[in-house]
Amino acid sequence: MSDNNETLESLLQEKRLFPPPESFKRAAVATSEIYKEGEDPEAFWARTASELHWFERWDKVLEWNLPFAKWFVGGKINASYNCLDRHIGGPSRDKTAIIWEGEPGEQRTITYFDLYREVNAFANALKKLGVKKSDRVTIYMPMIPEIVIAMLACARIGAPHSVVFGGFSAEALRERINDAEAKLLITVDGGYRRGKVIPLKQSADEILKDTPTIESVVVVRRVGDILRTAMRQGRDYWYHDVVSGAEEYCKPEQMDAEDMLFLLYSSGTTGKPKGVVHTTGGYLTGVYTTFKYIFDYKPEDVFWCTADVGWITGHSYIIYGPLLNGATQVMYEGAPDYPGRGRWWSIIEKHKVSILYTAPTAIRSFIKWGTAWLEQYDLSSLRLLGTVGEPINPEAWVWYYKYVGNEGCPIVDTWWQTETGQVILTPLPGVTVCKPGSVAHPFPGTGAEVVDEHGNPVKPGGSGYLVLTKPWPAMLRTLYKDEQRYIETYWSRFPGKYLTGDGAKLDEDGYFWILGRVDDIIKVAGHRISTAEVESALVDHQAVAEAAVIGIPHEIKGEAIAAFVILKEGQEGTPQMQQELRAHVRKKIGPIAVPETVIFVSELPKTRSGKIMRRLLRDIASGRAPGDVSTLAEPAVMAELKQKYESQEAE
Ligand code: WTA
Repeated sequence: MSDNNETLESLLQEKRLFPPPESFKRAAVATSEIYKEGEDPEAFWARTASELHWFERWDKVLEWNLPFAKWFVGGKINASYNCLDRHIGGPSRDKTAIIWEGEPGEQRTITYFDLYREVNAFANALKKLGVKKSDRVTIYMPMIPEIVIAMLACARIGAPHSVVFGGFSAEALRERINDAEAKLLITVDGGYRRGKVIPLKQSADEILKDTPTIESVVVVRRVGDILRTAMRQGRDYWYHDVVSGAEEYCKPEQMDAEDMLFLLYSSGTTGKPKGVVHTTGGYLTGVYTTFKYIFDYKPEDVFWCTADVGWITGHSYIIYGPLLNGATQVMYEGAPDYPGRGRWWSIIEKHKVSILYTAPTAIRSFIKWGTAWLEQYDLSSLRLLGTVGEPINPEAWVWYYKYVGNEGCPIVDTWWQTETGQVILTPLPGVTVCKPGSVAHPFPGTGAEVVDEHGNPVKPGGSGYLVLTKPWPAMLRTLYKDEQRYIETYWSRFPGKYLTGDGAKLDEDGYFWILGRVDDIIKVAGHRISTAEVESALVDHQAVAEAAVIGIPHEIKGEAIAAFVILKEGQEGTPQMQQELRAHVRKKIGPIAVPETVIFVSELPKTRSGKIMRRLLRDIASGRAPGDVSTLAEPAVMAELKQKYESQEAE
């Protein structure tokens, strides 16, 4: 569970209540009735699913062969049709879908009809390049409109996309391409980050010799002449060339509700990322419905989710949720502090953003930078705020409420996962009385519990494991090519209940409070990383004999990575070696996984059966007295570790 004792304590003592403003309540999309409706989940989800377009209606809402779910059995549907064609027949045809702002300052406004045309053309281009229904396509791109076009074009022709976050290294990209056996890669010459150009195609070139299934590569020209981008004849194509001659209309593929819409790799408790499989009908229903009610969506809203499309938050609440609802949204390419720390607030003022959805780590940075940055801008267009990705400490919540929302905007603290596809725990704006730091209640039609070691629900006031008790439409269906791991990871700890991996508390009023992960996953600035992944990157270095990685509390990032490393005989634990190891992790995984601290030790705390006791490492790193050491093979190692940690920390 979270090591941040101070935060945890303040969280559990939090008593303030924030009822929804009356004016908000009166006009809210959700009313308390919706919880009643959710008591019959199948009827509820069937009602919202029928607001989408189906080529053929389903025969059965849910087929639940635990742990395998099928939603909207027999239904035929297409994601891109629902995001585009459904809107362009009516008044939304010329409505703005995306207001895009590039980091250097350019702006593009794309209407639903523009997006429709681009997606159709690119879908035809993909077909011409040989992509067929059910072929996987990997996408490795920054936050530019073409990533939206690419994903919807794949969906249009029934080719599951597998988006790899542009901040992952080339090696991480290779691993994900090969696991998915992708046929085509869509990338970009480069993207901007804090004024620097990140050459993605060049990175991809490093590994394309080791990706035997890739037949073609489509490259979007983003930065142009700044980079010299090598193109291999017969394999690499410029995006603008392939779309320029493409036919204008591409008939959407009629997908079975249970056909795979996308794969998204996420960190698990082993070194190998898992391919989370999402299917079409249920996923679309889940994100359509949650977007509508949780964000209190009205046609005149301007929504802005600051996540990257490379993560599930971007998939569900930049791509599918908003577009299914016909919303207008802002998409921003770059960093929050470039060129200055007022960048986000200037974007909100300029585009009159009404709903902002971001992560606690960003809020904590803003707190550190001071309120002067936001006081320069008019943020009065905001009416609703949201957060996601990691626990938010009550102080950050209240700051967000006070300074960003000017004490007038409800905050939806939404808990969910790559695997859940859609938000599960959340307040409903206009309905729920918010408590800072609490994710409130299960969304209508879903179910959650906090259970003890034996799987029994805890009493109000108790804490334990967060589990989900009912199937929900956007749930993952399996792990790609690894059904056994799907069963073991999520469904074997407590029979019949989905194990989330999070610890939680249920308070006296029935509100849920997330305490953090109980497994070996850490959340660094909201990014999900497994300790095992970082450990295998470290031991891959020739100087390293063994490594143990833990999350340590971090003021801004929530958690940061600390690595305890045993070097091989003859190697020296110098500052240079620390740098070298950090660079190695960056190369193997990417900048997000680089350890904040690297501590050289000669032994690690292990049980007699050889299992590393990370709990004790966490005690050392947080300066706590070590907990129970009776199962340690060598209790003396603790003293050495403590001394090493303290002396190296001080350096
Ligand atoms: C954590 C992100 C507290 C949690 C959408 C979960 C949260 C993991 C919250 C999934 C929240 C997500 N409060 N913790 N509101 N939202 N988490 O797959 O530990 O990147 O299990 O999905 O993030 O991370 P993932």
